Amino acid sequence: DEGLKGFPHFMLKEIYDQPETVRNACRGRMIVSEGVSVLGGLQSKMEEIKNLRKLIIVSCGTSYHAGLIGRYIFENLTDLNIEVELASEFRYRRLRLDETTAVLAISQSGETIDTLAAIREARRKGALTIGLVNVVGSTIARETDCGVYCHAGPEIGVASTKIFVSQLVILNLMALLIGRYQSVSLNEGVAVIKALQNLPDQISDILAQASQLEELAKTYQKYPNCLFIGRQMHTAVALEGALKLKEISYIHAEGYAAGEMKHGPISLIDENFPTIALLSNDASYDKMINNIQEIRARSGPVFAITYTGDAQAEKVADDIFRVPETHELLQPILSVIPLQLFAYYCARFRGTEIDKPRNLAKSVTVE
Ligand code: G6P
Repeated sequence: DEGLKGFPHFMLKEIYDQPETVRNACRGRMIVSEGVSVLGGLQSKMEEIKNLRKLIIVSCGTSYHAGLIGRYIFENLTDLNIEVELASEFRYRRLRLDETTAVLAISQSGETIDTLAAIREARRKGALTIGLVNVVGSTIARETDCGVYCHAGPEIGVASTKIFVSQLVILNLMALLIGRYQSVSLNEGVAVIKALQNLPDQISDILAQASQLEELAKTYQKYPNCLFIGRQMHTAVALEGALKLKEISYIHAEGYAAGEMKHGPISLIDENFPTIALLSNDASYDKMINNIQEIRARSGPVFAITYTGDAQAEKVADDIFRVPETHELLQPILSVIPLQLFAYYCARFRGTEIDKPRNLAKSVTVE
């Protein structure tokens, strides 16, 4: 297949597309000197958008995990109240929606039936609807009041990779667009944009170390279970890492907020139950180191994904992989990439059908 460009699977090709995916998501959408983003697809509704008080993000699967990270991004860059809801749950709630509320649907395909139904319900109740979609001209793109495209090209692998990264980039651009009308300063805006400009090279640096993840996958794919933990934004990265692993390798994997370990999952830990711990250079760092120590004290193997300058994780974890540091709001974009590669290599060692896992579809158009 010439679409594979020499890669053995679409998933791997799409993982390697990611520096370009980020460039495509940003192209023509940033003014560095003003610390602002320009999103043409939202222009016609800018008056309503400036007056919003609340944003509800709805989505499914990997797009839902992007939404969970989006909550932090919007909370940090805007003054909006933010909710994130699974599309399949949203429509059954008794929601008070009016013109100061927008519902943002995140969808790669633009065809997921639950997300589409959520948008239709939101419109009926008078909310502004916004799409963050990859497939141009798809139903969600057509039925929302305004929106932004990923411009990431087709994603063929059922397990979403590059679109997740694209969604995170665009959530930052959207939040910046709104936030610069609110309390975000010029300097804060410039910092996000400059960090976005550096991302493609930082992603390439991670991809250049793929063989290290292949080696680690060789060890960890032998375990029947795997726990992923993180805090704050990295709680959602943990959920996404677990989803990637379970959907393509069929290893049972769970993502958990690290602070909840002591309320349940710690009881699972023994020498045959590994944990992948996501660390970042923020207020949660010391607590994550504590979590790792608690797991090691119960003989659980720990593989830590951390940042370049971290001096402690290598002393407490069995294995370590480092990603470059970026703006705090963009860090999940870098920490998810080793998890994508890790899941990919685990699946390869286990000989599963990586691009088309059993029982799953790329786009789910039935409820
Ligand atoms: C399916 C796909 C996932 C995707 C989810 C939501 O489950 O296998 O990769 O994240 O649908 O799809 P959407 O197109 O709405 O982002």
